[in-house]
Amino acid sequence: MKNLPIGVFDSGIGGLTVLRGLLRALPGERFVYFGDTARVPYGTKSSETVLRYSREIAAFLVGSVKKPKIKMLVIACNTASAVAAKILAKELPVPVIGVVEAGAQQAAKMAPAGTIAVIATKATIKSSVYVKYLKQLAPKARVIAQACPLFVPLVEEGWSDHPVTRQVARIYLNFLAKRKPDVLILGCTHYPMIQDTIEKIVGRQTVIVDSPSAVADCVKKMVPGTIIKMVPGTISLGAQTPSSAIPRVKFFISDDPARFKQTATLFLGQPPVGAVKLTRF
Ligand code: DGL
Repeated sequence: MKNLPIGVFDSGIGGLTVLRGLLRALPGERFVYFGDTARVPYGTKSSETVLRYSREIAAFLVGSVKKPKIKMLVIACNTASAVAAKILAKELPVPVIGVVEAGAQQAAKMAPAGTIAVIATKATIKSSVYVKYLKQLAPKARVIAQACPLFVPLVEEGWSDHPVTRQVARIYLNFLAKRKPDVLILGCTHYPMIQDTIEKIVGRQTVIVDSPSAVADCVKKMVPGTIIKMVPGTISLGAQTPSSAIPRVKFFISDDPARFKQTATLFLGQPPVGAVKLTRF
């Protein structure tokens, strides 16, 4: 179990922002990443559909219940995490960590009696999961939730730094900015890509919760120690481990590996190293 990789999944490429945080925080771990590029976006779909997709991916990553192929499952997709994390945690033979819970925990610590804002896809906001967690973790906090559905296609178009994105962000966030939240959770894998734009609108008094780091901290607590001896200073994201020449990440996607490789570079900060395999259910 100890030597197994950590499974990470997302509706597509956005979860690479989370994988990037994990690769940084856990230099001795190996990962298997599944991106459901054939069925993205999840954020506009019903919770029944997102749960079905999440179960299929989890079953693929875990493999056999008696002899799991991963030691832990990280749900990098906020929408899948909102809908499926609790259910999968009960059903799977390995620990499950969802990005929603990790982000909410960090926000609650930062502003236990303040104003906490969360922005996410329509499906995540509709699930009310962030609001529920925050009410439990910080009962005195005021919570504002806002769906920002156009951010995902804008980021995927490569328009992270574009006048149209800035205009859309102003329309979505003006009301929220007036409430001057103490903390803002970027409750979607794609939003860290436009953090600068968001920060300029909400103002400096608002602290942005870094969900990828929050997840990485949770995972780190659960996997003390490292499994591969690393040579200090030679680690690069997604690169081969110097000591063993094993690629640190195996990528599985459900459609178009060439496009994945191209867009993944945007999210990972460098081209993905290692095999990208096509897997269809
Ligand atoms: N990964 C999704 C999330 O974090 C965003 C993309 C999608 O809608 O599938 O909610």
